[in-house]
Amino acid sequence: MVNIVFLAALVVLSFLTDGGCQMQLEPQSLTVLRGSEARLTCSTSEPWSVMVWLLNGATLLTISSEHGVLASGDPNVTAVEGRAAARRSSWVLVLQAAERRHRGQVTCDIQGEDQKTASLFVQEKGSVGISGGNRTVLQGHRVRLECAAANWFPEPWVGWRVNGVEVSPGDYNVSHVGPSGGLVTMTSDLGLRATESSLVECLASVTALAQPLSSRVHITVVAEVLQGQDDCTVLLTATAVLSSILLFLLLSVCIVCIVLCCRRRRRTKSNTKGTIRFNQSGSGLSSVAEAAGKVNPGYAAEGLPDDSTKGIHGQTDSVTIRMVPDVVSSRGRSLPQEGGAQVDLSEAGPKNVRVATTV
Ligand SMILES: *[C@@H]1O[C@H](CO)[C@@H](O)[C@H](O)[C@H]1NC(C)=O
Ligand SMILES: *[C@@H]1O[C@H](CO)[C@@H](O)[C@H](O)[C@H]1NC(C)=O
Ligand SMILES: *[C@@H]1O[C@H](CO)[C@@H](O)[C@H](O)[C@H]1NC(C)=O
Repeated sequence: MVNIVFLAALVVLSFLTDGGCQMQLEPQSLTVLRGSEARLTCSTSEPWSVMVWLLNGATLLTISSEHGVLASGDPNVTAVEGRAAARRSSWVLVLQAAERRHRGQVTCDIQGEDQKTASLFVQEKGSVGISGGNRTVLQGHRVRLECAAANWFPEPWVGWRVNGVEVSPGDYNVSHVGPSGGLVTMTSDLGLRATESSLVECLASVTALAQPLSSRVHITVVAEVLQGQDDCTVLLTATAVLSSILLFLLLSVCIVCIVLCCRRRRRTKSNTKGTIRFNQSGSGLSSVAEAAGKVNPGYAAEGLPDDSTKGIHGQTDSVTIRMVPDVVSSRGRSLPQEGGAQVDLSEAGPKNVRVATTV
């Protein structure tokens, strides 16, 4: 099985090389831009007399091995003798300005020997343009760029570059506007988030074009954030100044109020002191208050939670029986009296103040 395949391959190969050696048309496929030159070479190792070049079956040019190029209906279609290896002869068909009508099958027919056919593609370079030109965009905003690649043949490849980096096809779309007069127009939309000022290029190309045709626009990104910060700082400063002024006013009002109040209080206090003294002396409690004042220091010393008092307690456990009634009695007398005196002062204050404020 393997042997059979191998043999078949050998037979095909020998057949091809034999035929190739006899007659060749190169290249077998040629793509050129409209208006540019197209060259096809036909060569043979066999002796020949007439070589006919045909385009889609119609004669373009006839060459005689004796007299060279005979007649040509088109001045832009010529042929030159090629440089060939030893014992081979070759002729080159030259289409000086390839036209749309030159598309198709080009045949080299060496009469009485063989004929070979090659494909000729004539492409057309159209135009490419981003509409809108240069623009300024707010940072973070989306910008949509529209590009039109007009009058191409065949359908051109359309792509985008941002700062020299090709944009992935997922970020733009390409749609067909439709052929008009045999030419194709494509449009493409690119959605872009404005992060930094960029050079955006729309590219269009066909295979015969060495470099894609490009249209470029500059996107200037304006930092909205900075502007916002400026506004904010202005606002903040304004608010700060205003609030500090307000605070100052409030403070001064407070101070004035406090000063006024203090003055009034001093007056009222001196008044109240007078009234208290008058009351105490009037009610005859002064003696009790004085007694309470005398008892108080003794009570305070006993009430101290110090270690010294503990020691005293430990020593005078039996004594306490005698001591307690005194203390209790002094407490019983002094506390209410003292408390009464205190309460009297504190209670007398508000009462008198109330009077002072109302007056
Ligand atoms: C020959 O080519 C030139 C451009 O090189 C063109 O202007 C002219 O129309 C062509 N002539 C013909 C007959 O195609
Ligand atoms: C676009 O901007 C670039 C650089 O900022 C400048 O060189 C170019 O002339 C501008 N193009 C137009 C059409 O304004
Ligand atoms: C794709 O193309 C259509 C128009 O054909 C357009 O409305 C749409 O916004 C485009 N989408 C993107 C992501 O550019």
